[in-house]
Amino acid sequence: MNTQPVILDTDPGVDDALAIMLALGSPELDVIGICTVSGNVPLSTGTRNAQGLLQLLERTDIPVFAGADLPLKRNPVFATEVHGESGMGQAVLPEPSQKIKGDAVDFLVQTLSNQPGEITIIAVGPLTNLALAEQRQPGTLQKAKQVIVMGGAIAETGNSTPVAEFNFYADPHAAHTVIHSGATLLIVPLDATRQVVLSETDIENKIAPLKTVASQFVVDAVQNVFALYRQLGREPIVYLHDPLAVGAAIAPELLCSETLYIDIETSGDLTIGQVVTDRRGLPSPRCLGKPVNCAMHVNAEAFLSLFLKRVLTPAS
Ligand code: RIB
Ligand code: CA
Repeated sequence: MNTQPVILDTDPGVDDALAIMLALGSPELDVIGICTVSGNVPLSTGTRNAQGLLQLLERTDIPVFAGADLPLKRNPVFATEVHGESGMGQAVLPEPSQKIKGDAVDFLVQTLSNQPGEITIIAVGPLTNLALAEQRQPGTLQKAKQVIVMGGAIAETGNSTPVAEFNFYADPHAAHTVIHSGATLLIVPLDATRQVVLSETDIENKIAPLKTVASQFVVDAVQNVFALYRQLGREPIVYLHDPLAVGAAIAPELLCSETLYIDIETSGDLTIGQVVTDRRGLPSPRCLGKPVNCAMHVNAEAFLSLFLKRVLTPAS
């Protein structure tokens, strides 16, 4: 099997950790680096989480690069209510033995320049690192084979505000830069990711009984978000937002996408971070935004089965 080289750009966070586990458990992917960015938790916390997770999974062969600790322009926002102060829910990660390899933006610019057309970027946090790479050397993102982005809400409500999804809300200017970069993009918005859910029953019946290092991490990591749902009087669930972006790289046939003209609101008090979709059907120059491939539907049952198999029985 030909493995495809990928770079994960991430703000670990619980679902980021599950995405990293899926990527490492998938023989189709060769993870050549993990870049961290401020998002769910501050950069230092997320970077330590990435290192600690690789330590836990005995994959310290994978280099970690630390990126932006602030959004391009707006004030930083975090999601510790969902992911916990540690960013890993109730899971406790080992002390990392490896050092940070370098700067994430340097790594992105150098790697994409050295291997044009070969690397898939899977971005599952705010897009600050990608935007800084594009600003530093215009045309950088076009050198990626594909840029898969977990972000945005097209027809779905937002999760950070009524209209904005967290990754685009946390750095709307970065999202705007990436959408306008000319890169080969696939956006995986909440419209798709809200179709892939793990329930408390899934965790109790399919994951907890395995009693492995990986399964126990998953059980512990989701406890914070489950507690939040209980506080809200809702059934405890965890959306596999970021793992589905990895799924788009390993099993693209499970997602159904369409090309939409979209742009990103970067200023409105109520609408900052919103994906604005132009469905008026006007001829191209009159359309707002850029034509972007957006995953809107997924074969959820097949993806969940793939996720559980790959995360809980990773390739040896
Ligand atoms: O809106 C979901 C996204 O925001 C996911 O990437 C999650 O990790 C948070 O970063
Ligand atoms: Ca994330």
